[in-house]
Amino acid sequence: MTIKEITTSAYTDQRPGTSGLRKKVTVFQQENYLENFVQSIFNALGTVTGITLVLGGDGRYFNREAIQVILKMAAANGVAKIIVGQNGLLSTPAVSTLIRQHRKRDNSVQGGIILSASHNPGGPDADFGIKYNIDNGGPAPEKITEAIFQQTLEITHYKIFESAAIDIDHIGEKQLGKMEIQVIDSVKDYADLMETLFDFEVIRHYLQTSPFRFYFDAMHAVTGPYAIEIFEHRLLAPVGTVLRGTPLADFGGGHPDPNLVYASQLVSKMNATDGPDFGAASDGDGDRNMILGHQFFVTPNDSLAILAANATLVPGYAQGLAGLARSMPTSQAVDRVAKALGIPCYETPTGWKFFGNLLDAEKITLCGEESFGTSSAHIREKDGLWAVLFWLNILAIKQQSVADVVIAHWLHYGRDIYTRHDYEKVNKEGAEALMAQLRANASKINGQQYGDYEVRLCDDFAYTDPVDGSVSSHQGIRLLFTNGARIVYRLSGTGTEGATLRVYIEQPETDETKIQQSIAQSTQTILAELIKLSLSIADIEQFTGRTQPDVIT
Ligand code: G1P
Ligand code: ZN
Repeated sequence: MTIKEITTSAYTDQRPGTSGLRKKVTVFQQENYLENFVQSIFNALGTVTGITLVLGGDGRYFNREAIQVILKMAAANGVAKIIVGQNGLLSTPAVSTLIRQHRKRDNSVQGGIILSASHNPGGPDADFGIKYNIDNGGPAPEKITEAIFQQTLEITHYKIFESAAIDIDHIGEKQLGKMEIQVIDSVKDYADLMETLFDFEVIRHYLQTSPFRFYFDAMHAVTGPYAIEIFEHRLLAPVGTVLRGTPLADFGGGHPDPNLVYASQLVSKMNATDGPDFGAASDGDGDRNMILGHQFFVTPNDSLAILAANATLVPGYAQGLAGLARSMPTSQAVDRVAKALGIPCYETPTGWKFFGNLLDAEKITLCGEESFGTSSAHIREKDGLWAVLFWLNILAIKQQSVADVVIAHWLHYGRDIYTRHDYEKVNKEGAEALMAQLRANASKINGQQYGDYEVRLCDDFAYTDPVDGSVSSHQGIRLLFTNGARIVYRLSGTGTEGATLRVYIEQPETDETKIQQSIAQSTQTILAELIKLSLSIADIEQFTGRTQPDVIT
């Protein structure tokens, strides 16, 4: 075995986005493309001599190949130890858990590398991704991702060990040159952490003694083995509770995004007359969650608010919450819970990394995004199975249906009628011009009256981190109306083709009669006037050629 130093030339398209570097598999398969990025991570860290890293991915196509390359490069660069999930599998929340737990005992643990393109499809013609997480277990902040990007532009060489493939399928310790490779059970530490937060006894009892039935759809992605261990083995839910539980390189041809469109099999089970009481799903890398009741969809916005309002029922949060946070486009439902609890609620830009500082500084305990992401201070990533267990724990205590829990919450705190419209794969220039026009017109839109809606404020959202003072600007155009309604426009930072325009539309309702009426109405009907406004104010058709969104959530 020898260390080789390979000459390479830079690619110019390796700037990590909201969640790492995400590209088509075919892009990653270009000569030295992955190697350049991995070496750039190591270069950006300064020295990696003697450090320990956690490594794993969601099992998608190219996961295994990438793991081999990273192990060999890490060894050649002087990394002391890599903790890798068996078969190369680790969910994003599990990586975060492992970094934090190992770091408590060993401060050579510097971070981890996650291989995933989250909810994007997998396979030879689909997507792959790589992301670096820091020593708190969370995504690298912008100054590190920028440093990595700079390194990708300057790279001329990378180092790699020449060796046969390393066995990652069997648990145990191996050696690659001077580097130790510890192949671990991908599930155990994460499942153990969940047992410290939730009352497994109460949930197990409820599952065994009541007619309550539930399904979890792992979408052939990474959560399968975690869900089988937690739900079927530890909580003794019937075998078969976990649907599509085997991780597959192409997710069985599906789109591992837990929403009403892509989890349609689960949705139709839930909608059957004699359907189960509770259903949930997670995405490719296990950080997202979708929560369903019998014939009932819980929006991620409401889910966050409901978990916050009921947190003290659950052992891990019985002491109460320090504060709450949501991303800017996430609905204001959680703000009202924070107000009622007398705790702060922070509004951050889109992307999980902004919650990290607030969690580290213990300013918040729970946080979430409208995009099916919720989590807490237990790790520094969003966590799909955590949210499902939180719901199970609440349902086992309240012994009510999901719909009853949600409706009671609305009647107490008010309801945010909410929708997100995505215009996908639109022309990039057109989408950017649309945003530029909104930005330029913001001051004119301020104070405008559109039908029943008067604009109280129109701005381009900027965030000053309360912990380190860093400023993130241009985070999306907000129109806040005097009656509490909002329209938000932003461009996705995670797409791999063209641009995706996201339009978030929200109408809060605190009148009890109207809330009661809203239960039987469709969200799109209630929001019809705001939806029309969202199209005309931004000239969506003119800039994108689209008259309606591709995906409505
Ligand atoms: C999307 C979501 C965002 C989430 C991110 C990573 O980003 O909107 O909330 O943090 O995926 O899962 P976007 O494509 O909107 O930039
Ligand atoms: Zn994800």
